[in-house]
Amino acid sequence: MFGGLSSELILRPIGFIRTHKQVKFQARHQPLEIEPERNVLELLPGRNYEQALHDLTGFSRVWLVWWFHRNTDWRPRVMPPRGPPKRRGVFATRSPHRPNPLGLTPVQLIKVEGRKLILGACDLVDGTPVFDIKPYIPAYDAFPDAKAGWIDEVDAAMDAPPQFKVGFSTLAEIQAAWLQAEWQIDFRSRLIELLARDPSPHRTRRITRRDTGEFVIGCGAWRAVFTVEAEMVHVQAFDTGYPPRFLHDPARIAGLPDRDAQLAFLQRWPSELDQRGPQAGQTNG
Ligand SMILES: C[S@@+](CC[C@H](N)C(=O)[O-])C[C@H]1O[C@@H](n2cnc3c(N)ncnc32)[C@H](O)[C@@H]1O
Repeated sequence: MFGGLSSELILRPIGFIRTHKQVKFQARHQPLEIEPERNVLELLPGRNYEQALHDLTGFSRVWLVWWFHRNTDWRPRVMPPRGPPKRRGVFATRSPHRPNPLGLTPVQLIKVEGRKLILGACDLVDGTPVFDIKPYIPAYDAFPDAKAGWIDEVDAAMDAPPQFKVGFSTLAEIQAAWLQAEWQIDFRSRLIELLARDPSPHRTRRITRRDTGEFVIGCGAWRAVFTVEAEMVHVQAFDTGYPPRFLHDPARIAGLPDRDAQLAFLQRWPSELDQRGPQAGQTNG
């Protein structure tokens, strides 16, 4: 107890966001504003939230306070996906692995329609519970000259153009086109963005090296196998993140993203099961 106040706080979502991002791999680490994206936050009915939204029209941006509900653990030191593979104190990062799993994102407010907010680009996955909305007030919330510690250093390095070019084998092109046409699954642009910057092994970016010399990157529920030759990254093939024994296991199937697509993919391109490690299908930010 602190001064008579309980030291615990129970939070209840005011609503859930609908976004186009099913897996964390698809969600950028912070929203990229140039994407013509529309997301909908629908507040729960029967709680007078319509009234609570009065006067929000006119603000071009709102803060969302939300729940990293896909995470169950926290770590005092985390390895951020950008920059060199170096651990940082979690409070010096925007990592999802926090003691209180609260996310904070300033999003563009396009329109308020009853209990619905139409929003621009965001970094929340589909179905994320939202706890609060606050207006973004540039005079209070923006400090463009503030220093950003290690992030300034990493950004300075990132300003350099990407060092690698990324190409796809014929098989990878066919697989990607099939995933897009049949299942509306397409993670190529995020994959290119990550590999063009740095294809070297990295735990948080989920890049590992096989004994054969090939590399594998986890892309949400999928994997891409690639090789690196000088400044060229060749994506050789895609693969499922889960082995068939997971995809058919009744105890697991409820939570497996893209399960039907993975089963259909394995029918078409039976997988190299011997290459799969214990990390199969693990997702991250
Ligand atoms: C780096 S965090 C930053 C979030 C927020 N802008 C902040 O600063 O608190 C964004 C990442 O969180 C992950 N993420 C999005 N929604 C999530 C959820 N509901 N549960 C767990 N992780 C989530 C995605 O991988 C996304 O790229």
